[in-house]
Amino acid sequence: MKVSGAAVRKKPKPAQAGVPDPQALLDWYDRHRRHLPWRSPPGRQADPYHVWLSEIMLQQTTVRAVGPYYVKFLGLWPTVAALAAAPLDDVLKAWAGLGYYARARNLHACAAAVAREHGGRFPDTEEGLRALPGIGGYTSAAIAAIAFDRRAVAIDGNIERVVARLFAIETELPAAKVEIRAHADALLPSKRFGDFTQGLMDLGATICTPKKPACGICPWMDACVARGRDDVESLPRKAPKVEGKLRRGASFVATRVDGFVLVRTRPSKGLLGGMTEVPSTAWTHDFDEDDALTHAPLKAKWRKLPGVVEHGFTHFPLQQSVYVAELPAKTKAPDGMRWVAATELHGEALPNVFRKVVVHAGLLARPPGKR
Ligand code: ADE
Repeated sequence: MKVSGAAVRKKPKPAQAGVPDPQALLDWYDRHRRHLPWRSPPGRQADPYHVWLSEIMLQQTTVRAVGPYYVKFLGLWPTVAALAAAPLDDVLKAWAGLGYYARARNLHACAAAVAREHGGRFPDTEEGLRALPGIGGYTSAAIAAIAFDRRAVAIDGNIERVVARLFAIETELPAAKVEIRAHADALLPSKRFGDFTQGLMDLGATICTPKKPACGICPWMDACVARGRDDVESLPRKAPKVEGKLRRGASFVATRVDGFVLVRTRPSKGLLGGMTEVPSTAWTHDFDEDDALTHAPLKAKWRKLPGVVEHGFTHFPLQQSVYVAELPAKTKAPDGMRWVAATELHGEALPNVFRKVVVHAGLLARPPGKR
């Protein structure tokens, strides 16, 4: 198996617009790579479990927000076999705050498949990886390149931007993806595919940024067609987004004077299936605020908090009003609901949308590093 490693630096070739030299990026990566917890030191093969875990988390949020979750997961489950053996609920709890719980379920299912069907070793090809739960085209290519140094084209948002600018691709996204992929494929070096992929990611994240790119220090400064035309920031072009229609609803935060909060588990199927929530109304286009209290989980002196809690799901934006009430110590939970100590709420598999609600009600601190 080839491992990545810093190549002996050669004198850079003079660059021509539209003809970027892959070696220039590798040289830059050797000098300026980001030190991220899941990366192996130069010249050492990365652990496929580490690469896979980080890639699944990075599908969800930023490098900065992933860091603490990645470290926590490795502390709890140092190997894929340990993760496979963990109860799903523990995994969902550790994932809470990263959002989109289907990924956490797939993460667990994937660990189980690797442990049971592959003897605890990740497949080392794109095709083999792609057959596993939760691993799509991008992720299989990224893991194949980074963990196994396979020739693979992994294209995330950062790489899309770098390539669109490098070749001044005018086609709007998402239609431009085909052209971007063809250019990225032609750009690959003859070895060090993992380093090259991560070099592209780092270039996009630190230099070829969406706004105010630092073109003056870019290793592909002379090769970049968009820079030659002084038209970097407007690329990649994007088709206008079709936003889902706003839905609205209300959440009810009932607390007991002895420090408990009323929660329930969502139905196992559907949006945020099986996760914890504070009792809430349905989220609808025609939600009627005057009707909200008819959905309250129990009789109490409900008080509506000022403002609304906003949340963006992938297919619709949501606004929720929040009602709070305080109840005596021994109040029984209504059917299908339970009291959880407010101090234990952070350990519940509470999706971000409800985390925001309880933060609004003053029960939890804001989640760290969320977009
Ligand atoms: N984004 C997705 N995967 C990444 C990685 N391996 N390194 C940095 N940023 C990333």
